[in-house]
Amino acid sequence: MVIDTHCHLFKDYYNDLDEVIKRMGNNIIIVSGTSNETNIEVIELCNKYKNVYGTLGIHPTEIDKYKESDLLFIVENINNPKIVGIGEIGLDYYWTKENKEIQKEIFKKQLDLAKRYNKTIVIHTREAIMETYNILKEANLNNNKIVMHCYSGSLEMAKEFIKLGAMLGIGGVVTFKNARNIVEIVKVISLDKILLETDSPFLTPEPYRSKRNEPKNVLLVAKKIAEIKGIDVNEICCITTKNAVCQFDLKGVM
Ligand code: NI
Repeated sequence: MVIDTHCHLFKDYYNDLDEVIKRMGNNIIIVSGTSNETNIEVIELCNKYKNVYGTLGIHPTEIDKYKESDLLFIVENINNPKIVGIGEIGLDYYWTKENKEIQKEIFKKQLDLAKRYNKTIVIHTREAIMETYNILKEANLNNNKIVMHCYSGSLEMAKEFIKLGAMLGIGGVVTFKNARNIVEIVKVISLDKILLETDSPFLTPEPYRSKRNEPKNVLLVAKKIAEIKGIDVNEICCITTKNAVCQFDLKGVM
């Protein structure tokens, strides 16, 4: 079994979702919401497909559309057994720098929800890694599990996030030709701290880099990690699946 721990299977990106999800067979998919609109789609997908789980959150680049009622929707659906986390949430100073304070405020509010409902936290951070780290550290989480989605920071910071309770989401970037940093991190970090993800429809692994991504390509990520670690790909799938079941508290899986 394999688990794609992070993707965005939304109507804006796919008009063939039945087929896309079917191609994953009985493997598990975790769909991450990014806005109120997509959070609603996450719930619909969880209800429709047995192998789909979800996380709900407001992404830092979607803050402009944010309304307070968006958090209410998250709270109302947080006890759905297939909702396994809050995310993706965090800070993004690459796309949007002019609203840093609001980003931080909404991020902290969602961390409070994760704390209150004891949910796994799925983090997006871009050009804001120290601030993301400090906010997580100062949030005094109740041993919440954390996922550093599409991790792209330094090895040193990876170790610090792991100390806070994080696992690292590794996706298609690890297959790119210029992926020296993340390859080095995968080499050094213990396999029991690594999760597989695709971030579909984005970040398609080689050799399909220019095409639309989909969850089944998670196997290409697994293969690349197997190559880096010198471990059989089946073992990579087995261990990372166990990691995901643990990190997202996936009930009834395995
Ligand atoms: Ni994402």
